[in-house]
Amino acid sequence: MGEPRKEENLQNGSQLVYGEDRAGDRLSPEDLSELLAAGTKEVHEKAESTPFVKDFLRGRIRRELFKLGSVALFFTYSALEEEIERNKEHPHFAPLYFPAELHRRDALGRDLRYFYGPDWRSQIQCSPAARRYVERIREVGRADPVLLVAHAYTRYMGDLSGGQVLKKVAQRALKLPATGEGVEFYQFDAIHSAKAFKQLYRSRMNELELDVDTKQRVVQEAVCAFNHNMEVFGELDEVGKSLPEEPMAAGTSAHGDMQGDISK
Ligand code: HEM
Repeated sequence: MGEPRKEENLQNGSQLVYGEDRAGDRLSPEDLSELLAAGTKEVHEKAESTPFVKDFLRGRIRRELFKLGSVALFFTYSALEEEIERNKEHPHFAPLYFPAELHRRDALGRDLRYFYGPDWRSQIQCSPAARRYVERIREVGRADPVLLVAHAYTRYMGDLSGGQVLKKVAQRALKLPATGEGVEFYQFDAIHSAKAFKQLYRSRMNELELDVDTKQRVVQEAVCAFNHNMEVFGELDEVGKSLPEEPMAAGTSAHGDMQGDISK
């Protein structure tokens, strides 16, 4: 993770402590973090309004679909984190390498073990939309690693933003144990303040030495990553139509919780 930067201190060996101030005043419109936020605003709004995501937020998520969603995430994060490992020393990715804080593959593996049992690995398959997403991640990891920044940004910043809300919605809707089994994916144990970590991550993105054209390519790739996510949601929505109705737990609506809590 290199030397501590202006916005962070390292304390107690590996314990990261982040400063309160967002790189704030020093931000400029050419900063990658700002370009990404602006360049994905429209596609983010589109993603928020997909039926699968809207239903999920309302607590209308069935166990079978939630399981399939976790399967898609497992394949996606396995590819993403394998490509991140391959490129962890690449100067265009190294400052964003936070395996202990961010990586989700093992948590997803534990969630799948909870849902499918000890032989979960032989029971799951990568769906066509997840396969296309995985192929794109592998392609950029091998041929154009700077674009991995876009894939890491799209997933990890999103997860850090809505994770706690989605975890509670899923626990309530699926009657999962309060101890966290089945929703470990949403729990970032090594991150104490999601807000502060996102600030650190933004400042690390802004320190990457990239020319304007490359920054634009990263933004385009992030739009592409959002589209892959929407394809997976669309696929889950289609599968949902062919599944038998499951009784929903009473009072599963996330309404009210969402507004403040999603404040990413
Ligand atoms: C950020 C809401 C779905 C990826 C945010 C932020 C909000 C939000 C309020 C602001 C964060 C901030 O200012 O720090 C939602 C809601 C969603 C949703 C309500 C669903 C209904 C998604 C999806 C993805 C995603 C499906 C991608 C797979 C991101 C990313 C950011 C973000 C990458 C960071 C933006 C930035 O600061 O550059 N989201 N989101 N979100 N979200 Fe979502």
